[in-house]
Amino acid sequence: THSTPLEASQEVADLIIDRIKAFGPTQKKKFVMCLPTGSTPLLVYKELAKKCREGKISFEHVITINLDEYVGLHPAHPQSYYHFMEENFDIPPKQVHLLPFQPIPPHTTHTESCAEYESLITSLGGIHLLFMGIGTNGHIAFNEPASSLASRTRMIKLDQDTRRANSRFFENSLSNVPTHALTMGIGTILEAQEIVLLALGDGKAQAVKEALQGGVNHLCPASALQLHENVIIVTDNEASKNL
Ligand code: GLP
Repeated sequence: THSTPLEASQEVADLIIDRIKAFGPTQKKKFVMCLPTGSTPLLVYKELAKKCREGKISFEHVITINLDEYVGLHPAHPQSYYHFMEENFDIPPKQVHLLPFQPIPPHTTHTESCAEYESLITSLGGIHLLFMGIGTNGHIAFNEPASSLASRTRMIKLDQDTRRANSRFFENSLSNVPTHALTMGIGTILEAQEIVLLALGDGKAQAVKEALQGGVNHLCPASALQLHENVIIVTDNEASKNL
């Protein structure tokens, strides 16, 4: 835990840089990194962009994929996760793979798109490093409470709690927030080689406590991380105050 969000974010950025460097450019496969959206990762992305400008890291041998995406938002919509990644993570588009967004190609169902995403992850050789945040209700990606801990990439109906929390990005209007999303499953997430979860602010304190100190259970999706052998939880003091 760290005293400020900036220090916590710097630790995550340093960890990402360390893993990319350790993987090295010599491998046949690229380093596959799964990334989150939301407000939590913003300082990490700023820090990574800074280190990139300073020549301390290169993303040349990195492929990025994403955890989730709203259903029904055009990619150009300011709140689509496609748009978010374009704005916040500077990497050539051919190295980026995002969950399918609307409009999906004709005759493709969300089920097919999600299955394709799973195949893509397999063909990339799996996820080396998965970075994520946590929802105030304990969700990870868009796996809402009561998601199966074995779930795979799929479409999910968003909880009212999550829609309310995210309405701040949609002019505070709940009706503007999409009702559904595509999300990587909890089972899919748990197959990543390493997971880093960043939690900032006292709004996350209860979710962090339940995830780390509660029993593993489907009502707190983040508690599934207890089943993984290689997880690092980084917080500021506010987010860890209930531990
Ligand atoms: C969003 C995203 C999650 C994110 C979480 C927390 O709805 N789907 O991937 O981790 O909620 O968001 P924030 O970082 O803005 O608090």
